[in-house]
Amino acid sequence: MSIHKEVKVITTHILSEMKFKGEKISMLTAYDFSIAKLVDSAGIDVILVGDSASNVMAGYETTLPITLDNMIYHAASVVRGVKRALVVVDLPFGTYQGNSKEALYSAIRIMKETGAHAVKLEGGVGVKESVERILSAGIPVMGHLGLTPQSIHKFGTYVVRAKEEEEAEQLKKDAVLLEDLGCFAIVLEKVPAKLAEQVAQMVKIPIIGIGAGGGVDGQVLVVHDMLGINQDFSPRFLRRYHNLAAEIEGAVKTYIHDVKNRDFPNEREQY
Ligand code: KIV
Repeated sequence: MSIHKEVKVITTHILSEMKFKGEKISMLTAYDFSIAKLVDSAGIDVILVGDSASNVMAGYETTLPITLDNMIYHAASVVRGVKRALVVVDLPFGTYQGNSKEALYSAIRIMKETGAHAVKLEGGVGVKESVERILSAGIPVMGHLGLTPQSIHKFGTYVVRAKEEEEAEQLKKDAVLLEDLGCFAIVLEKVPAKLAEQVAQMVKIPIIGIGAGGGVDGQVLVVHDMLGINQDFSPRFLRRYHNLAAEIEGAVKTYIHDVKNRDFPNEREQY
């Protein structure tokens, strides 16, 4: 029997047990109560209230504009819909870089005001002090390496990261550092599959990949992308499990037709 089917509530310890036993970890984003409830009752292990809410919920081009108050609103809504999954919340851009005291303050606000179980932040050695300070308050931290979208203006493009030796070596060092500091897991985004597999073998904490191949300990996708709600984003790593955009458009067109043709509401649909 897999751990996934046995446990009633997913904790960071359960995730490390999954890695130890070779059971892959499933993770999806959610940003609101209704989707979180569906994703949780389907049996997902981890729900990420990602700062990708900036793109898919608010329509911004990057993840930079979303605020801590916005993230708290999304995370509190998600937590109200979740009974079993571990809920991880992204610390948004500008709330933890360069100032560990502010990082701790931001993480505490998330934990206090949302009821979530952990925070995620982007970067390695550059955010070492922030990670240490948050962990010292007993708040579980998930790292995020590889393509870190909050640094998009430094990278200039969303292409695969760490293809060159120097960046790959730094990424490995950062993964080991995050493990040594006490992070419970790391998201590895858009890096070569071979490198991702090496990292997963180097550290004992789970490595959750997105565009990082199958040799890691789990997978994460943005729920709007995998359900086909968002049709504007089609990277090679994305598998679409549904075409909800077409279904929603079809349903809305039928509704408009029914209203215009006085077909809705009918006798049974009124008082
Ligand atoms: O914000 C987000 O959705 C993420 C995932 C892409 C891992 O960080």
